[in-house]
Amino acid sequence: MSQQLEQKKQNAARVNKIITSIELQNKHKAASVDVKFKEIVEKYNTLIDRYKRLEKVYEFHRGIIQNISSGILTTDMQGRITFMNRAALEALGYEYNNIQEKELDVLFVNRQDGKDIISDALTKGREYESRETHLLTQDKKVIPVGFSITLLRIPGSDENYGLIFIFRNIDYITSLRHQIERMDRLATLGELSAGIAHEIRNPLAGIKTSAQVLEESFSPGDFRSQLVSRIVKEIDRSNELLKRFFHFAKPGKPKQDFYNIEMIVDGVYLLMASRLKKHNIKFKTDFSDNTPQVYVDESQIEQVILNLFLNAMEAMKNGGELTIEIGVENNINLSQYQKNENAVFIRIFDTGGGIPEDKLEKVFNPFYTTKSDGVGLGLSISSRLLEENGGKIELQSNERNGSCFNVFLPVVKTKS
Ligand SMILES: Nc1ncnc2c1ncn2[C@@H]1O[C@H](COP(=O)(O)OP(=O)(O)O)[C@@H](O)[C@H]1O
Ligand SMILES: [Mg+2]
Repeated sequence: MSQQLEQKKQNAARVNKIITSIELQNKHKAASVDVKFKEIVEKYNTLIDRYKRLEKVYEFHRGIIQNISSGILTTDMQGRITFMNRAALEALGYEYNNIQEKELDVLFVNRQDGKDIISDALTKGREYESRETHLLTQDKKVIPVGFSITLLRIPGSDENYGLIFIFRNIDYITSLRHQIERMDRLATLGELSAGIAHEIRNPLAGIKTSAQVLEESFSPGDFRSQLVSRIVKEIDRSNELLKRFFHFAKPGKPKQDFYNIEMIVDGVYLLMASRLKKHNIKFKTDFSDNTPQVYVDESQIEQVILNLFLNAMEAMKNGGELTIEIGVENNINLSQYQKNENAVFIRIFDTGGGIPEDKLEKVFNPFYTTKSDGVGLGLSISSRLLEENGGKIELQSNERNGSCFNVFLPVVKTKS
């Protein structure tokens, strides 16, 4: 019996040992599982962290590429478009779906030129910097652009997988260039005419005095007296012309003050009223309320308005309608330095024959005239006077609906 008891005890002790050892093993296992689990969680957290950081970097770069004002396009090695940023889509008027995978050269006005440039870049690895060309928008408008092309390289290798085409609309620069060329011509012309005017006025004065003396020596009925009086008249006309040249060379610094532009326009209308009536021209006004005062030289702006009224009248030989609109327009680029300003506008519409498209730029050139008795200085002087007064003039014209000259003057907020 005691032997049996002893056996049982021993068995129980063995079982206990086994249990303890299993428990111990399990404890060890659990501890190591715990460590592994912690490791995995840590790795997972770092991964999430990295992913979030990567996402931020991605958003940052995406933000730069999408918000940059230059147009950016990429292509694959076949020259097919693989990406366009927002500025590129906006400038060219495309939705990405309509242009994706099209060949980049379809955007070039001169498609062959585009093909050559792109194939040079893709096959010969040639890159382009500060080049100019013309691109075509979706609705077939031509825009002048400056562009550069660089290759899309696989990082850490010499291989490419496409190219990056970056462009910028240079419309503003092109028009600025024209403006500078014109100013240059005006300045040279100004100096020249001032010199010539001086040189010619002196001998003219001599000729005039001599002719007047000669005129007095003929009896009043003598036909030679009429001839000489004609000479004097022609000299006066030449003198008048020279005076205008002179004025053109030195328009004089504007004496600016605050004026209601409506008053200036009304003043010019009063001067012209009877002539307009005689020419069967109706005068209409559409003045907005509360137009701020402009800070200008009154007589210079009067001269500008008068020139524009005269041109309109001369364009409506068989009568018509002269309409003046006055108001405020926002976001006007008055000059390179005054961008997105508020400006007072004075629009002058006529119902005359208009100006042909290819002459729109020319009418502001000095001496450009289509009139047998014209001098061709009215508009060039006007644009110069406006510039002196911080304003500008623009022209819209079509041969069916007559012309519209748009004068802008700066709104000055405080008296200086
Ligand atoms: N309102 C207008 N309608 C049609 N043509 C115009 C108008 N204003 C100007 N032009 C054109 O511009 C030219 C230049 O005008 P301007 O400089 O005033 O010189 P001018 O009046 O002496 O010819 C005019 O000869 C005319 O061909
Ligand atoms: Mg004129």
